[in-house]
Amino acid sequence: METFTWGPHFDVGDDKINREHQKLIAMMRNLAQLCKKSVPKQQVLFAYDALIQFTEEHFADEEELMAELNYPDLENHKKIHQQLLDNLYKYREELVVSVYGVLPSSVFDFFQNWLMTHILIVDQKYGAVLKEKKKTPSKEN
Ligand SMILES: [Fe+2]
Ligand SMILES: [Fe+2]
Repeated sequence: METFTWGPHFDVGDDKINREHQKLIAMMRNLAQLCKKSVPKQQVLFAYDALIQFTEEHFADEEELMAELNYPDLENHKKIHQQLLDNLYKYREELVVSVYGVLPSSVFDFFQNWLMTHILIVDQKYGAVLKEKKKTPSKEN
């Protein structure tokens, strides 16, 4: 679980989005640490809700950036964001009904998968378009 660490391979070519990814990863790491310490359930839920809220903000920012870029795969990317949010809400329900307020280990597998297949692969696709655009500026009307 020490793997929730941002590195330069996550760089998508936009400072704001990079900072948001760093914050998301830090929030996941914080949740992993809280669950290890067996803190009261309310504390885990509070941190988890903060992650949901920040994820919604991050996805909205990313979708706005992709729209500005006229990114052709925006609709598909939006669908993937919605699936990630659906999963976040599903795990929240499990947390609410759990007795001890410990997230199942599968939630951390889900986070890991989010980093490895979404941020490192799917987000990098618009990152490549963005980086290319920055190399050849001002071609739009
Ligand atoms: Fe992202
Ligand atoms: Fe994304």
